[in-house]
Amino acid sequence: MNYPSRTAIVNSVKYPALIRDTFLSGGFVTKTSGGKPKFWSGGFSIVFQIDTGGELWAFKVWHTELKDNKFRYTTVSEVLEKCALPYFTEFEYVENGVLVDGVLMDTHRMPWVDGAPLKDYINSNITNPVKLANLASKFQLMVAEFHKHNIAHGDLQHGNIIVQDDGEISVIDYDSFFVEGLQGLPDLIKGQGGYQHPSRYYNLTINEKLDYFSELVIYTSLIVYSEHPELWSYDTDWLLFSKEDLETPELCTLFMSLKKSDNPKIAILMSTMHEFLRCEDITQLLPLEDIINSKINAKFPPLDDITDKF
Ligand SMILES: Nc1ncnc2c1ncn2[C@@H]1O[C@H](COP(=O)(O)OP(=O)(O)O)[C@@H](O)[C@H]1O
Ligand SMILES: [Mg+2]
Repeated sequence: MNYPSRTAIVNSVKYPALIRDTFLSGGFVTKTSGGKPKFWSGGFSIVFQIDTGGELWAFKVWHTELKDNKFRYTTVSEVLEKCALPYFTEFEYVENGVLVDGVLMDTHRMPWVDGAPLKDYINSNITNPVKLANLASKFQLMVAEFHKHNIAHGDLQHGNIIVQDDGEISVIDYDSFFVEGLQGLPDLIKGQGGYQHPSRYYNLTINEKLDYFSELVIYTSLIVYSEHPELWSYDTDWLLFSKEDLETPELCTLFMSLKKSDNPKIAILMSTMHEFLRCEDITQLLPLEDIINSKINAKFPPLDDITDKF
């Protein structure tokens, strides 16, 4: 099947009659000040915002084929329903949800999640170390839950992590998910540079370890920014290190200096990231909670554990 261009999709979504997802077809597509449908575009899809009687929805149309898309989404939906974790939002994969250039295309709908994408949240709270450290703890608890359920998001990065005002986390964009039942499917979406292990680009099939590297990057970055707000930069496509920094950490002055940080937690996390970067394959990595338990909590017990002993 030939996939339509982004422009063709945007042109179709302008016309309510071409939206065939019956739930959304009577809604209003959010427009730019120039009157065109507002959209968010990524490597495989375009997302629009549709208002149905005051409720906002994200409406996704793919412009590039993702093989086995319907099977992936159906399997993910079954697993997420069973584990009922608060980080996920219900969604619907809709066959023939939009007509583009005379061809019916499958679409996806999920409620629009309130909150700020991760980098916006950090930007608003960069001078509040407690909020950043709390977010790091919540993030760590979230990924530990993913691991318990053998779930991997596959593309953990700022655009896919939404933080609510109260600090609770939601993840969106389930195109790259791994759940049980999807073993052996090809790893098509490689994730965002600056969040991925260099070997991810050669990884063949999706598995429960897809997030291990990005988890460490996100957790470490939050801890670093809670201590060093002066390092913060909003206008980048990465969080702390670029894709190139991660390919050659020895050439990255910031990487090497944080590795020698006076803050033992930062030094341990950075040494671990360096060890991870020496691995040849993402299957050799470890989950974040293992690192925190064995390398940080074992050496620096949280305050509660110390006071319990007296
Ligand atoms: N349900 C949603 N709630 C809030 N924002 C969303 C939602 N879905 C998509 N977005 C916004 O649109 C962007 C692109 O959507 P996403 O599903 O991540 O597509 P892609 O696969 O192209 O990255 C997101 O980074 C986010 O800013
Ligand atoms: Mg995304």
